[in-house]
Amino acid sequence: MALLFKGDIDRGGDWQAALNRHAPDIEIRTWPEAGEVADIDYALVWKPPRAFLASLPNLKAIFSIGAGIEHLASDPELPDIPVVRMVEPGLTTGMTEFVVMSVLYHHRFMLDYLAQQRARAWHEISQVAPGRRRVGIMGLGVLGCDALERLKIFGFDLAGWSRSQKSIPGVTCFAGAEQLVTFLSCTDILVCLLPLTAETRGILNAETLALLPRGAAVINVARGGHVVEADLLAALDSGQIGGATLDVFQEEPLAEDSRFWDHPRVVVTPHIASMTIPDSAAAAVVHQIRRLEQGQPLEHVVDFKRGY
Ligand SMILES: NC(=O)c1ccc[n+]([C@@H]2O[C@H](COP(=O)([O-])OP(=O)(O)OC[C@H]3O[C@@H](n4cnc5c(N)ncnc54)[C@H](OP(=O)(O)O)[C@@H]3O)[C@@H](O)[C@H]2O)c1
Repeated sequence: MALLFKGDIDRGGDWQAALNRHAPDIEIRTWPEAGEVADIDYALVWKPPRAFLASLPNLKAIFSIGAGIEHLASDPELPDIPVVRMVEPGLTTGMTEFVVMSVLYHHRFMLDYLAQQRARAWHEISQVAPGRRRVGIMGLGVLGCDALERLKIFGFDLAGWSRSQKSIPGVTCFAGAEQLVTFLSCTDILVCLLPLTAETRGILNAETLALLPRGAAVINVARGGHVVEADLLAALDSGQIGGATLDVFQEEPLAEDSRFWDHPRVVVTPHIASMTIPDSAAAAVVHQIRRLEQGQPLEHVVDFKRGY
């Protein structure tokens, strides 16, 4: 049995070692050392070139190195075999750390205090009790649900929005386009953890940002395509949006002349909210291969019709 890894070449050694540790019986090949392509059963990839996967004739499944699958959905020659998105504890924990940190940052007025520090000013801002702070997460999948679980400890007023109705203890759940207005109108700190699909592209725009209470904060840790950047900048300039933490952008790396870099109400990070960790991810991939080889269904298979 052989698996071909084609991802970040600098991390190829880490992946090879992790996969060997978790599956000494599987032959791990690292691209470009693909060997005889007809022997390759599985591919573990990030942003493969168009038709690359179609050139591997006997693949049984494709594993995405990241949680997002746009890099595969855009390949018109993607083979008609299961594609598994990355769900692994390292990626989930990293995202939850980043979301909790960012929510607390806006909750505790850190943008204001940093501005004060630069101005050598010493003013107290009245704290808001966590129970009066409404934190809403768009996307109640693996990442959104884990972040909500950890946010519970602070006592925030928590809400979430998804495509299908959910029931999560301690979280007010909204679903579908018809409940988006209600969800946004009662969210002080909004976290975007949606997949990027035809339905969610541009979902944070002038109209939806205007539905948030004035001064709300926006944290985007999903994809740059979720935000209409000109609309967000206008909302930040007008004070409709009081602050933003942006980890992802329409164009990455963020253009040198982007106004986001030095906007006083914006925190910019270079798409690092979370990363797949080779050791725990290798364990997750091997777990799925074992399931398939034992005739059990794969988990976290992408449904390309719904787009995630
Ligand atoms: N910045 C980073 O470093 C980073 C790292 C990892 C992941 N990400 C991003 O995070 C995203 C989410 O990951 P995940 O593993 O949590 O995904 P997931 O488990 O597939 O969950 C997706 C959630 O979004 C909801 N959703 C999808 N389309 C919707 C729509 N049109 N309207 C309302 N809700 C919709 C789904 O609703 P249902 O529950 O009803 O299906 C589900 O709750 C990934 O797609 C990726 O883009 C970013």
